[in-house]
This record gives sequence, C-alpha cells and structure tokens, in this order.
Amino acid sequence: MNQDELKTLVGQAALQFVVPGQIVGVGTGSTVNKFIDALASIKDQIKGAVSSSEASTVRLKALGIPVFDSNDVSELSVYIDGADEINNLGHMVKGGGAALTREKIVAAQSKMFVCIADESKLVDVLGAFPLPVEVIPMASSRIMAQFAAMGGQAQVRMKDGAPLVTDNGQHIIDVKGLKINDPVTFETQVSQWPGVVTVGVFAHQKAQVCLLGTSEGVKTLKF
Ligand code: 5RP
Repeated sequence: MNQDELKTLVGQAALQFVVPGQIVGVGTGSTVNKFIDALASIKDQIKGAVSSSEASTVRLKALGIPVFDSNDVSELSVYIDGADEINNLGHMVKGGGAALTREKIVAAQSKMFVCIADESKLVDVLGAFPLPVEVIPMASSRIMAQFAAMGGQAQVRMKDGAPLVTDNGQHIIDVKGLKINDPVTFETQVSQWPGVVTVGVFAHQKAQVCLLGTSEGVKTLKF
C-alpha cells in the first residue's frame, strides 16, 4: 500500500471514535482530508464539527458538514488530527500545515486526541522533522537566535517569495537539528518565550490513541 492508501485507511478507521449526535473536533492536513471525506458518509449522524483551520472548514462545509465556532462549544469528546511525528508516549510534532495554533486550541477542548498517521510518522525521538513554531513577526529574529543557542537552525517559512501568513495573521519558523528528548519540558519552556504564539510540540495535548497505517493494516496504539 502506498502512503496515500494508508492515509485513506486510517481516515476511515477514525470513524469508530466519532460519537453519534455530537460535534467532532477536526484537524488539518492530507490525512485529515481523508477523515473528512469519510465523515461525510455519516454526516446525518453527527451535529457537526469544530475545525482547526480555514482549509478544513472549507472542505467540511463543501461536504455539507456544519462547522461550529469553538467558543460556542464547551467540550468535545474527541479530536481527530494527523501529526508530522509521534513518539511511543503519544507526544507529537505538528504544524507542517501551519495550523498548529488552532489545532492545539481544539485539542485542548477535547477529552480525547486520536492521532491518524501512516507508519512513517512513528519515531523514537522527536525532532527529525523541522519543528514548526508560530511566532509574532517582530519576534522572529530573537526566537531564531534562541533556537540557535540550543543547537537548532531556524528559518522563516516562505510561500510565493514572502513569509507565509497563518490563519491567525502570524508567521511560522521551522527549526532543524533539534533532538527533543523531554517534550513536556521543552514545550513548557519554549511556550514562555516572548513572541511565541504556539510551539509545534504537542506533549501537554498529547494523543491518547494513534491509528497507525501500516502495510499489515491499521495498528491501534494507546498511550
Ligand atoms: C497541520 C498538521 C498536520 O497534522 C501534519 O502536518 C500532518 O499532515 P499530513 O496528514 O498532511 O501528513 O499538523 O498543521
């Protein structure tokens, strides 16, 4: 099975966690797109979704799934999202699609995070994937220097020759060369730097379950 087929497999498998009659938290990315497509097949059984990005909102609405403002929903039973990396404790690196801030917000309002990913995302130590960090643009240089002091190489993510602008009007820096041995402490520390909106380590908002697409089928990991 190729990577696209593995994503379809886990996107469909995630339907088992959707609670009938409720609102589901929906992440962002190519794997989640497969989940959204699968969700459309049971849209009459759910109330709707809280979305983590403009891109997912467009896709959900196009398929006739109502999208609710997160402020109008007190708690979600489940949040389903992909990851760029996940370790064997359910800690993740996210933000490859630049949606990390809203992803962390929706994850925080959900009782359970179900990560859907193909097996290439499972790692022993987080950090091989360049770590996305959403930042207030005026703080970029200082934050990049702080990462350099930790041994990382940071750069501003570009799109069409200009810094990429997130759904929240901010920039993303991507940091290579980190080995994140203690994701909880790392997330706590970097989140406190002035100008950091969201660091793409999801250790406080970790996954409780990962549906991992493998050539032998979907493996369920519980953390
Ligand atoms: C977006 C994300 C995605 O979950 C992550 O990038 C994985 O995406 P994909 O499913 O396309 O591999 O964090 O900000």
